[in-house]
Amino acid sequence: MLKSRSTMLWMLKSLPNRLTLKRLLAFGSIAFLGTLFVADPPSVCTAQDSAVKTTEEPKPLTKYLGRRIAIPMSYHGIPWLNRPERIQEENPEEMLEQLDVQPGMTVCDMGCGDGYYTMELAKRVGPTGKVIAVDIQPEMLQELSRRCERNNLKNVEMILGLPHDPKLPTGKIDLILMVDVYHEFSNPVEMLTSMRESLKPNGRIALVEFRGEDPQVPIKPEHKMTKKQILKEYQANKMGLVKEYDRLPWQHLMFMGAEPQEKSPKQQKPE
Ligand SMILES: C[S@@+](CC[C@H](N)C(=O)[O-])C[C@H]1O[C@@H](n2cnc3c(N)ncnc32)[C@H](O)[C@@H]1O
Repeated sequence: MLKSRSTMLWMLKSLPNRLTLKRLLAFGSIAFLGTLFVADPPSVCTAQDSAVKTTEEPKPLTKYLGRRIAIPMSYHGIPWLNRPERIQEENPEEMLEQLDVQPGMTVCDMGCGDGYYTMELAKRVGPTGKVIAVDIQPEMLQELSRRCERNNLKNVEMILGLPHDPKLPTGKIDLILMVDVYHEFSNPVEMLTSMRESLKPNGRIALVEFRGEDPQVPIKPEHKMTKKQILKEYQANKMGLVKEYDRLPWQHLMFMGAEPQEKSPKQQKPE
């Protein structure tokens, strides 16, 4: 599954213009490390440790606050992401309605895969808005790039993230959508910190996860989450529940926002 650096560069060359050659070269190295993370279970650290590294990277976790972290779904699963039954299982139309995406917004599709939801978000933000689509697998972004071309969508910017760093701009995003992604983060603390910092003051994360409490949902336990666990993990990272929608067929839809920061002594009003 591991690809050579030159193959990776060749694949990335077909990404849209925004990705300059300079960034592509940087991506080539990052992509190589990224595929190591994706190819092996997070516990197999030796290959990463022996790779040439210039900066200290946080270790991938296998468990977080009592939850076992799932291994990221490989790009070989693209057909599964586009299965026709998804419409009954997820009711994408109803989920997207709840997001209340408006023209002109900057929306991030975090862990976009090959763009099942990116396409819809791009139509909703329109030409004055933008979708930032992030994934750690270059093959997913390559497929998304083809999809954008076929649909003539020019408002999608793609970022090849790292498992601990989505490389988002600070304070610029109205909404981050994560469908069936968060439970795969091998570095949830770094990812949540980075996403929180990327939001505008009233920005939200819309988290969609298969319901862990519901034995009727036929998904592997590691790929499901309970509400209790979600709240535990987000609250540990200075985020809280703003709103939720409980009527999707198999999934939770929870809107999370940054908790108000404690005021510094200077900002506090005198008694
Ligand atoms: C199950 S797929 C879901 C794809 C898409 N959201 C959808 O609903 O069709 C999960 C995706 O999350 C990506 N992913 C896992 N960890 C990630 C991380 N730290 N940053 C960005 N993407 C990540 C995987 O590479 C994979 O493409």
